[in-house]
Amino acid sequence: MKPTIARKEQVSAMFNNIAKKYDFLNHFLSAGIDRLWRRKLVARLLREKPNLVLDVATGTGDLAIELAKRSRACITGVDIAQAMLDIGKTKIEKRGLEKQISLQWADSEALPFDSETFDAAMVAFGVRNFEDLHQGLSEICRVLKNGGTVAVLEFSRPKAFPFKQLYDFYFKNILPLMGRMVSKDPSAYSYLPESVYHFPDGQAFLDHLKQAGFDQTEQKRLSLGIATLYTAKKVSDTIRA
Ligand SMILES: C[S@@+](CC[C@H](N)C(=O)[O-])C[C@H]1O[C@@H](n2cnc3c(N)ncnc32)[C@H](O)[C@@H]1O
Repeated sequence: MKPTIARKEQVSAMFNNIAKKYDFLNHFLSAGIDRLWRRKLVARLLREKPNLVLDVATGTGDLAIELAKRSRACITGVDIAQAMLDIGKTKIEKRGLEKQISLQWADSEALPFDSETFDAAMVAFGVRNFEDLHQGLSEICRVLKNGGTVAVLEFSRPKAFPFKQLYDFYFKNILPLMGRMVSKDPSAYSYLPESVYHFPDGQAFLDHLKQAGFDQTEQKRLSLGIATLYTAKKVSDTIRA
């Protein structure tokens, strides 16, 4: 029995299945706030002036496109769902960004790149789906140059009353129902709240970044804590040794 492979296959099958509706559902279910969050990540990363950037779990490429619009960085996007990548490629061609962004099939937990290749790496709503979080973060760290920055955008859980209660109700009841109706995939939008509630957020996620070889960890809660932007730098190998 190989449960780990089965789960990864389930995740890629699920995203392949909802790929055509993914962009619409993303913007609809978040009332467009997801765009604002990606822009915040890009603005943070641009402070580092990176030339070579890896977009991990790129999906349909929205984050890579946002960065390409605002910089001259060369971006490589990877994902394990080919149908998501195919939609991303069409969007990139439509915008004439194919010289700046290239997308390829690759698993974040076994990245096909040499160590110390990229100036920066970014992940939007991807780390939560990793089979092995430590392995995925360690791989990102490996392919970053020493001192390189990682920026991770992920859902988190609001804590303040009454927003927490309202959010819980929307996230556990309304969102899966609407997601199911539009995507016709019964599992995809039940998976979303389940995965968010089981994923480490805040300091717990920063601890995972540290264990994977990052330092100077920071977090910025967005929209009352619905999402959090985490940043960290790769510790130089000499300092670690
Ligand atoms: C919620 S989508 C996010 C896509 C995009 N980053 C965005 O902001 O819209 C999550 C993506 O993670 C991808 N994914 C999950 N596990 C992965 C892995 N191990 N390696 C690469 N991509 C993965 C899925 O295929 C899916 O496209």
